[in-house]
Amino acid sequence: MSSEKPGAVIVTGAAHGIGAEYADRLVRDGWSVVVADLDYEAAHKKVQQLTADGGRALAVRVDISKEDEIAAMVDATLKTFGTIAGLVNNAAVFSVVPMSRAPFGDIELDEWDLMFRVNVRGTWQVCKAVVPHMAENGYGKIVNISSGTALKGSASRIHYVSSKGAIVSFTKTLAKEVGAKGVRVNCVAPGSTLSEEDPDEKTIEYRQSRVTDRALPRVQLPADLAGAVSFFLSPDSDFITGQTLVVDGGTHMH
Ligand SMILES: NC(=O)c1ccc[n+]([C@@H]2O[C@H](COP(=O)([O-])OP(=O)(O)OC[C@H]3O[C@@H](n4cnc5c(N)ncnc54)[C@H](O)[C@@H]3O)[C@@H](O)[C@H]2O)c1
Repeated sequence: MSSEKPGAVIVTGAAHGIGAEYADRLVRDGWSVVVADLDYEAAHKKVQQLTADGGRALAVRVDISKEDEIAAMVDATLKTFGTIAGLVNNAAVFSVVPMSRAPFGDIELDEWDLMFRVNVRGTWQVCKAVVPHMAENGYGKIVNISSGTALKGSASRIHYVSSKGAIVSFTKTLAKEVGAKGVRVNCVAPGSTLSEEDPDEKTIEYRQSRVTDRALPRVQLPADLAGAVSFFLSPDSDFITGQTLVVDGGTHMH
């Protein structure tokens, strides 16, 4: 474990998948990590594992589309760790809360609304609750999670891809609004990642099929993304804001 960091980092959607890997890495980096997720049982289990390994972590049940639950998450973080230094907006409708991979005309209205309520509005709501505390300290780091698919397009699940496209513009706009307060806002766009805890044959085949598009031809794993998030939370990136870093083995180059 590296040197202790001031304050806490909230990672939404950290009970499963890639978010759980971010939590592992950030605890190893020395942060106090809030594992915030819809699935409290899994968040609690993750925190038990992190603290057993000597880290500081707190499990919080939150639905990022609900303002009162976000407020309770922020309160619990401040009560336990004192300050909020970082926020990773990772929670999304994706796999644990599943989406349809359907043609654009077949997406149900309710699913479109859920996608934007969680992935876009939820990200905004969490930022609204957290930024004032960062501004009070004159320093803070926000990392949003988009997707490589939003940059290159995809021939299905237009609701998901559009929501992840919105995260790139959201990142740029928020970065401009809060920079003078010392808050940096960046974004990571992952490629297709084998993030499922117990993937079936079909899922493994699908992730494998993405390999041919890559300059670095192998399956992408959650650990491939953790370094980028760690960097955006570290002082090494203090003069970088509003940027989207694509981490996909060289599928999309921009
Ligand atoms: N896996 C990939 O191939 C891939 C590729 C590009 C981008 N991403 C993005 O990376 C992030 C993580 O992806 P993943 O594969 O780990 O997804 P996942 O579905 O495995 O994990 C998402 C987590 O978010 C939580 N969550 C869902 N809705 C929530 C809500 N309303 N409030 C709080 N928590 C909620 C879930 O419980 C889960 O723990 C997502 O933003 C996803 O869009 C993933």
